[in-house]
Amino acid sequence: MRMYDLIYTKKLGAALSPEQIAFWVKGAADGSLPDEQSAALLMAICWRGMDTEETLALTLAMRDSGQRLDLSSVPGLKVDKHSTGGVGDKTTLILGPIVAACGVPCPMFSGRGLGHTGGTVDKFAAIPGLKVELTDAEFLHSLQATRFANSAPTGNIAPADKKLYALRDVTATVESIPLITASIMSKKLAGGADALVLDVKCGPTAFMKTLDDARTLAQSMVDVGSAHGMQIRALITRMDAPLGWAIGNALEVMESVEILRGEHGASELAQMSFRLAAEMLIMGGVATTLEAAQAKVQASLQDGSALETLRRFVALNGGDAKALDDFSHLPQPGQVVDVRADRDGFIAAIDGRALGILAMDLGAGRRDRNDVLDLGVGIHVLAGVGRPVVQGDLLFRIHAKAGQTIQPDFYLATLEWAKVSQPMTPWLMASIGC
Ligand code: URA
Repeated sequence: MRMYDLIYTKKLGAALSPEQIAFWVKGAADGSLPDEQSAALLMAICWRGMDTEETLALTLAMRDSGQRLDLSSVPGLKVDKHSTGGVGDKTTLILGPIVAACGVPCPMFSGRGLGHTGGTVDKFAAIPGLKVELTDAEFLHSLQATRFANSAPTGNIAPADKKLYALRDVTATVESIPLITASIMSKKLAGGADALVLDVKCGPTAFMKTLDDARTLAQSMVDVGSAHGMQIRALITRMDAPLGWAIGNALEVMESVEILRGEHGASELAQMSFRLAAEMLIMGGVATTLEAAQAKVQASLQDGSALETLRRFVALNGGDAKALDDFSHLPQPGQVVDVRADRDGFIAAIDGRALGILAMDLGAGRRDRNDVLDLGVGIHVLAGVGRPVVQGDLLFRIHAKAGQTIQPDFYLATLEWAKVSQPMTPWLMASIGC
């Protein structure tokens, strides 16, 4: 088999066979095929697409490039969640402990942040001492002891994805529905969960800008998961303004803990986390209706069991659980700078992507894969869409490194203003799957 023929076939828009796809993925992962040929095929896939059989074959080949975790020693249906990524998205920190406290084991592998979106692993890393790269044995032990486990993927989960994702990152080939599907689903299938809830973000800040594209991606992932016997359901959620008040790692831990304490219950972040958690409880077999599942979610907040699960997970994996009760134990900023409104009016929109980039520039995110983060910096967003604002009102509180120059205009430029109140469109745009 020649790689040249695969590239030529896809360039003309024809389908690749499962054998051809397996040949490519193996060669890309073990280095026997040159990167330039993989890059050319990636670009041809971006333009020409892949049909359902090809996407399935690609997912399987990537899954089988590494190990598959065996979670059968943990009783019950194991339920995972994946979000396609958004600014301020800390739902994993909230729903993982809730779902586990309600009796459903929740094994989760998360990524590090790159660019304007943060990564769940970096958020957990803000808890002093917490080990965020668990061995397989530690991951399994955490799941058995607390029903919750979160870790950066071990090097051996879908290594072909690591290789291909790095190539996609530098060849402008990330935004392709079959490539995103195979990348996400290969890791999820290798991770060993029985069921998966997907949060597919849609909007100007997300990979998928339109509802049609978000539906196509969601359906593609649901098809692949179902074909492999996984229970799978996708919610399509709006992504434009940042999710919640916190952007930045320690700040996002604080906001998550506050929600687990029962605060901010009406916020979009809390409502979204509770709904995703409820879907997971239904899939895990501990509730049959959304109402019953939501009641369990609320009970786990009220009786403190969700927060206690997070404390136990943190302590078990070397972290300082006191930091969850006393935020002065979390990384702190060198200075805090307030940004106030320069006019009266109503905020019509907040550009989450621009704020994500500003947070990255503060040191909360990575411009380059090798950047070292400052876990204490970030943005406290007090501005809210639709709320009346009077000149001088506090809109952003910038948590920065000591001596860092903050330009308030850059933050104010992320806001779109209106003369009358603009209602937010609902965060839940559609749902797909079982
Ligand atoms: N997240 C992934 O893991 N892979 C993609 O391709 C896109 C988002």
